[in-house]
Order: sequence, then structure tokens, then C-alpha cells
Amino acid sequence: MQIKPDEITSILKSRIEGLDTSDAELTEVGTVLSVADGICRIHGLDNCMSFEMLELPNDVTGLALNLESDNVGAVLFGNWEEIVEGDTVKRTGRLLEIPVGEQLLGRIVDPLGTPLDGKGEIDTSHTRPTEHKAPGVVQRQPVTEPMLTGLKAIDSMIPIGRGQRELIIGDRQTGKTSIAIDAIINNKDRDLICVYVAIGQRKAAVVQLASVLEEAGALENTIIVMAAADESAPIKFLAPYAGCAMAEHFLYDGKAALVVYDDLTKHAAAYRQMSLLLRRPPGREAYPGDVFYLHSRLLERAVKLNDDLGGGSLTALPVIETQAGDVSAYIPTNVISITDGQIFLEPKLFNSGVRPAINVGISVSRVGGNAQIGPMRKVAGRLKLDLSQYRDLEAFSQFGSDLDADTRQALARGERLVTTLNQAERRPMPVEDQVVQIFAATNGYVDRINVDRVRKFLASLAESVSGNEPELTKKIAGGDWSDETQSALDQAVSQFAEDFGYDLDEEGLPLEEGDEPTRSQSSGSSSSSSSSDADSESDSDSDSDSASNENAADEAKAAA
Ligand SMILES: Nc1ncnc2c1ncn2[C@@H]1O[C@H](COP(=O)(O)OP(=O)(O)OP(=O)(O)O)[C@@H](O)[C@H]1O
Ligand SMILES: [Mg+2]
Repeated sequence: MQIKPDEITSILKSRIEGLDTSDAELTEVGTVLSVADGICRIHGLDNCMSFEMLELPNDVTGLALNLESDNVGAVLFGNWEEIVEGDTVKRTGRLLEIPVGEQLLGRIVDPLGTPLDGKGEIDTSHTRPTEHKAPGVVQRQPVTEPMLTGLKAIDSMIPIGRGQRELIIGDRQTGKTSIAIDAIINNKDRDLICVYVAIGQRKAAVVQLASVLEEAGALENTIIVMAAADESAPIKFLAPYAGCAMAEHFLYDGKAALVVYDDLTKHAAAYRQMSLLLRRPPGREAYPGDVFYLHSRLLERAVKLNDDLGGGSLTALPVIETQAGDVSAYIPTNVISITDGQIFLEPKLFNSGVRPAINVGISVSRVGGNAQIGPMRKVAGRLKLDLSQYRDLEAFSQFGSDLDADTRQALARGERLVTTLNQAERRPMPVEDQVVQIFAATNGYVDRINVDRVRKFLASLAESVSGNEPELTKKIAGGDWSDETQSALDQAVSQFAEDFGYDLDEEGLPLEEGDEPTRSQSSGSSSSSSSSDADSESDSDSDSDSASNENAADEAKAAA
């Protein structure tokens, strides 16, 4: 048979023209070269992107991190122990995404969105990339709404606004987590979606925390993302980005969200471990060179969007654990410089009974002031100054009555201000009650009350004012601080103080001679009560006693 080249060419041409390539699938496939410690090296993925998701056997997902000339280094999520040398790896062409949506509220999930609380499957409708570019300057607007924590010491002196990044920093066991939890509880009815990211914590601690939130009725608008202590480094590395993406789902829907990263010290350590295994060059404290970028790109995603984009906000509360109060270590300085301020907690204060144990001198909030309500800004004005003055004079308090009148007065005031700012955990307070209490303390109404009765005085004061003067309380909450409001409040407080009864005279000396301790003996919050104390509490443990007092007051209020 004779072959006609023309005929063959035309047949081939027509075939090629008619080829339907739309549903032909083209994937780039590589093979695993080596695998260890949740990290693998893959050969053959020449066009792979950084942060691209890779598909491996046994439902293992890979994340391409190191793009080298002859191989790709990837971290593995899932059952990586089952991956062996020679397994095939498929590119997906997509950056790492996780499921997001309302369905996650009230649940504990891992960073990939898998439920960990045994409450059944989560049927999410959306996904979002874990890494997302932070909005630019034009897309933002200034922070003006408050994100109230319900803690007097913070809402008055270190106010946080919606869209702000405020660092909570301190040694271990100084109450860092408690502040974040109180903020979540305080916002349960204020249209704020919360995401709590637990990195490298014990599972039992996270379960405990979830039950605290549930008891307070705050779990239903909270998502808990957990990468427990025993998880592999890549999972811990991913956790904050996943939590942020889950919060961003609400942010770009025009809602307000809060995300707590507890804590970023463990996150940095996980990243260091991962980077060393990927053989990236170690730098200071053996962290890789881009550890600053690790946290800055995460925290820059906190934002108050402009109205064209829906006006949503994402507030971030990162937590950093220091060693022996050393804020100049590598990771703490990094995160301090990225955030808009820090709440610094000290073990010394914590152990001396100041709780929350905030060091007022070096704690700041650089943007939240604009978000504070007027009355709070006014009453808190002198508070910070008075307190730092008190800290300076505190060393002299042991000299007791040898001091001149002014110093004694400053010490007495300071002691009472510290007591005023003390607050039991899980007991957030409405901002108008805070204003009333701080107003009373800074205007000298508690100067003539014994320190161990101050808590009781303030609790009943707030209760009395909000009970008898609902209009006034409403005005204060609405930001009104006109002269009438001030004088009405002044009147209400002085009337209450009159009824409550003073313990000391104008000079600060006991009213009934002989049976009152002098202040030098009663300094410190754990002093024993005097025999003539009208108040019937037995004060062996003044802290927990006054906490239960406040508790009773709160309950009475709720019942009314
Ligand atoms: N305002 C408070 N009043 C009384 N106790 C408090 C207060 N805040 C925290 N605590 C107690 O202090 C302890 C430590 O608190 P928390 O777990 O919040 O600290 P942390 O700094 O997060 O600790 P860790 O370093 O272990 O994460 C807890 O037992 C908690 O109950
Ligand atoms: Mg903690």
C-alpha cells in the first residue's frame, strides 16, 4: 500500500484541531526522596509554589516551604508516619486553605478544621487561605470603638480598641490567659466573635478553659483552635494562621472579631524546630532569619476596615511568655515592636496580691485611648499618675507614722487605688460601674475607709448607684460627662459613703481610739481585720472573701 504523506498530515491536523482539552487533567507529580520528623523532601515538582498544598497518600497534606533547585522541602500534616520514600506527591495548584464559617462557633478544632471535641462533624460551607495579605492603609480606618475587657485596670489605663493589637506579656502563671478569657466573657453579648488559639498547651487546660467559657455562656460565639503540646511542629506553626483565617471570615463579612494567640513564644519555638529540620540557616537564639516576618505578617492582619469594605474589625491579643521578666529577649522584643502596646504582668505583683498583676508603669496602649468613653478617660486621667507615685513612695510605708502628712496621704490613697483595681478573674464589670468605682477612689471617698473594707464599699457602691440611679448610669455608659452628671454622681457617692460609715477621721486616724489598727500595721491587702470592724466577714483570707462578697453583690444585682 502506498502511503500518502498529505493524507496522513491532514488526518492528524483534523484530529488535533478537534481535540477537546477542557476536561483533560494535567498534574505535576513528584516522588518522596526522604521523610523524617514530619518533614519530607520531594523530587520532580519543578513549578511548585511556596505555601502550595500537596497531596500525598493516606490523606496526608503537605505544605511546600523550601523551594530548592533540585527538590522541594515540605512539612506534612496528618499521619505522616505512613509516608515512605518513593511515594507519589501531587501538586494541587492551590495555596493552603482551611474550612471556615459560622458552623465552627462553639467548637474545638485543630488548625485544619477537624473537630476535636467529639460533638460530631462540622459541615462548613467556605474555605479561606491560611496566609492572606494584610489590608493596606487605604483599606483601613482609625480605631474608635472600644473592645472592653471588663477589667478595671485595663479598661481605664490600657484601653483596647476594636482593630488594635495588644500584647499580653509576662512570666509563666501571672494571669495572662485569664485576661484574654475575661475579655471573651465580657463580650459575649456585644456582637464580638472570638477565636482562641491554644498553641502548645496541655489538652486538659484547653478543655478546662472551654468549660469555663461554656459556663459563662460565651462558648457559643467562640471558636477554639487547638494545637496541643504533643502535636508536631507544623501543626503548631499553622495554628495562629488558621485561627486568623477563621476570624477573617467574619471580618470581611462586616463583623467584629477578636483573636487570641496563646502563646506566640511556643509558636516561634515550633517554627524554629521546623526550620532547623528544613535546614534553614539558624540566626540569633537559633531562630531562622525570618522569625520577625513570621509574627508581623500574622499581626498585621488585625485591622479596622473602612466602611466601603464593610467596616469589620479584627482585634488581636497575642500572648508572650517571658523568662524571669526578660522583655529584651529576641521574640518578646520582636512582638513588642509589632503590636500597638503591651500589658505587662509581673510575678512580684501577682504574689503580693495585685490581680490582675499589671505593671502600670511599662504597660501602654498606643491607640485605644480614642476608643475610650469620655467619662472613663476623665476619671482615669489621674489614676496612672497617682499609682506610679505610690509605687515610688511604697518603700517608705514601713516607717509608718513618722512620715509627713502628704506622704501618708499619698500612701493611703495609693493603697486604696491598688485595692480598687484588684479584680477577681471571670468577673468582668460593665464600664459604667467601673467609672463609678474609680470616680469614688480618685476623689478621696475611700480614703477614710479601712483598706480591707474598700472592696465591699466599692461593690455595694456600684450596686447602689446602678440600682437607685438607672438614668445616671445610662448617661455615663452613653459617654455623657457634663457638669450635671458629675455633680449627680458626686452627690450619689457622698450620700452612699455617709450611709456606709467611715472608719477613719480626716487625718487618717481611727475614729474609735484603741480598737483600730494604725495604717502602718494594716498596710497590704492581706492584713487582718480590726475587732471593731462593722462588717461581719471573717477576714482570714481577705482576697477570696471579698471575691465572694463581690460575687454575692453580682448575684443580687442579677436577681433584681
Ligand atoms: N484576677 C485574678 N484573681 C485571682 N486569681 C487569678 C487572677 N488571674 C489569674 N489568677 C490565677 O492565677 C493562675 C494563673 O493564671 P493563668 O493561667 O491565667 O496564667 P498564665 O500566665 O496564662 O499561666 P501560664 O504561663 O501557665 O499560661 C490561675 O490559677 C488563675 O486562677
Ligand atoms: Mg496561659
